[in-house]
Amino acid sequence: MPKLIVVTREGEEREINGETGLSVMEVIRDAGIDEILALCGGCCSCATCHVHVDPAFAAKLKPITPDEDDLLDSTSDRDAFSRLSCQIAMTDELDGMKVRIGAED
Ligand code: FES
Repeated sequence: MPKLIVVTREGEEREINGETGLSVMEVIRDAGIDEILALCGGCCSCATCHVHVDPAFAAKLKPITPDEDDLLDSTSDRDAFSRLSCQIAMTDELDGMKVRIGAED
């Protein structure tokens, strides 16, 4: 099972296992980390699942869609490595990826 390292808003690092096929949002939520609200349930319409991904893994992710891009514009701390975690599917290729949870908007 690929590992995911999550950095919470307080800076705490948690290493969790991510079931392949689940989204990064679901993996974080299922681990009991409650900083990801995921208000829309993962259908790319809320931006409350914003994370900053490890630059070393950014190129391994599927390209950002126009909808995701628009939603990320509504977050307060978007940067070049911002993604919506519900739009990232866990794969073995992402083993060891670190994601930092975005600011609460
Ligand atoms: S959970 Fe709403 S956009 Fe990701």
